[in-house]
Amino acid sequence: MNKTIIKIDKTIIKIIKKVNNMTDSRPSKFVKESSLINYKIAMPEDSNPGNENVNGGRVLQLIDNVAGISALRHCRTRTVTASIDKMDFIYPIKVGELMILSASVNHVFGQSMEVGVRVEVENLRTGDRHTTGKAYLTFLAVDQEGQPIKVPFLVEPETETEKRRYKEAEARRKLRLEQRELLG
Ligand SMILES: CC(C)(COP(=O)(O)OP(=O)(O)OC[C@H]1O[C@@H](n2cnc3c(N)ncnc32)[C@H](O)[C@@H]1OP(=O)(O)O)[C@@H](O)C(=O)NCCC(=O)NCCS
Repeated sequence: MNKTIIKIDKTIIKIIKKVNNMTDSRPSKFVKESSLINYKIAMPEDSNPGNENVNGGRVLQLIDNVAGISALRHCRTRTVTASIDKMDFIYPIKVGELMILSASVNHVFGQSMEVGVRVEVENLRTGDRHTTGKAYLTFLAVDQEGQPIKVPFLVEPETETEKRRYKEAEARRKLRLEQRELLG
């Protein structure tokens, strides 16, 4: 009985969302409007105690910061981090290396958007550069009371990379929703 009511509720919500979308006058933004690159030299205070590797939590903080700016550039309104997907640290980052964090909005849903961040490091003496990690974050646009509001649309992706990221973001979104439904 309860399951039937929940199903009907979900159907009604879907219909309301469809009608809302038809009359939706949200502005549209290009991916390039939210893209940015942040540079940071890894300093001793960024490292783990007792070794010269940068602390993972510090890298996450930098990722959240750059992704937050990207989300803000897309929305031009208050945003909050709702979640950060699993993060793999592929290589250690050493003190003295240049960290290069590139962020952009990959996809926009109703009140949420996915921001992707790529972390690269450059050895400033040799010029060697490699990717050390990637992260995908979900941000929400919120009003002054912290209530979610609609995010501006994303114009159809232009470049091959933007198109690939857009498609992959859809798949990740599906997984996130399934996971939340399963695990709560
Ligand atoms: C994020 C927050 C605003 C969500 O509020 P909510 O009322 O639970 O949101 P809803 O269930 O109505 O969902 C609204 C949207 O957010 C998305 N969402 C909600 N929680 C999410 C999560 N954990 N991960 C990904 N997306 C999420 C939903 O999918 C929905 O997206 P859509 O409109 O694009 O389909 C609320 O949980 C919050 O304020 N969290 C604290 C955020 C914060 O302070 N972050 C900084 C870290 S200290």
